[in-house]
Amino acid sequence: MNTIWSDYVQNIGTLYLSRTLRFSDEHKENFMRAFRVDNLGQKLKILEIGCGPGALTQSLSRWYPDADITGTDRDTAFIEFAAQQAPHLKFMEADATALPFADSTFDVTISNTVQEHIEPSRFFGEQLRVLKPGGICLVLSARRGINITADCIAEENSFEQEIWSRVEPSDHKMQQKYAIGQFALSESELPAAMEQYGFHQVSTEYVLVNLTPDNPQNSRELAHSMINSHRQTSLDAITAIPHTTPGAVTADELEQMKACIHEKYDRRIMLYDSGVRQWDTSMSLTMVLRGIK
Ligand SMILES: C[S@@+](CC[C@H](N)C(=O)[O-])C[C@H]1O[C@@H](n2cnc3c(N)ncnc32)[C@H](O)[C@@H]1O
Repeated sequence: MNTIWSDYVQNIGTLYLSRTLRFSDEHKENFMRAFRVDNLGQKLKILEIGCGPGALTQSLSRWYPDADITGTDRDTAFIEFAAQQAPHLKFMEADATALPFADSTFDVTISNTVQEHIEPSRFFGEQLRVLKPGGICLVLSARRGINITADCIAEENSFEQEIWSRVEPSDHKMQQKYAIGQFALSESELPAAMEQYGFHQVSTEYVLVNLTPDNPQNSRELAHSMINSHRQTSLDAITAIPHTTPGAVTADELEQMKACIHEKYDRRIMLYDSGVRQWDTSMSLTMVLRGIK
């Protein structure tokens, strides 16, 4: 049972809600245009690597309804959650550096924010092996976006500041211990690496997703989802403290921290509902790297 990522790095809620917004059907056309996999036929065999809790896998199954899709990740908790959320899809635990599939099995391999955690020759090499000749490898990579937090959320009281001062140093150590982001590549290094490891006709696209609750074109429900996705990320960061820094905070302090988070986000929702705009925003820029075997 491997739950390193879901316990220490990013919890289920953080990934699931943020990716559900990023890969919502509103952005379907932009992503599908960047993927360009339609020419491979209807019954595509798609493998997602490092699928986490499976939000992108679910979007792919709506966008390519005839495809045969398998989501894989090495984290047991993510795979269990993904299978529960979408029982009609296939999910399995698998290490991206030793995929349990025969050579030339898939038409498409795809991953989102996974490449930077895996040694490139193994990351690209395994996908090259399991892709059919002419198959397409899609690597989605989150680039620097824009994140503006509403004042009512950004402000920390002295209690919160004190708690975070106890946690931050060892949180950094965890990132090093688990090689998080150790193989990150720039916008020019990524396509070069894909070519170096054997892919042809390598190309890049960028998809911008604008998550600004106060934009009038968003429904109230969608605006609330955007705000609550950040609420979940903040709550998950607190839930992770006993894993990342054992003994740093008491159970009471954790509950108090969570109450502070709810208070701030409840206020943000209240401001939204009463039409007092904050213009907080989250712009995610996804690089879509595409190469052919
Ligand atoms: C930043 S998360 C992204 C998860 C998912 N793609 C998403 O966008 O929600 C990185 C994921 O890569 C997975 N991962 C890291 N190294 C892996 C490996 N060697 N094999 C399989 N999965 C791996 C982690 O378990 C985690 O789910």
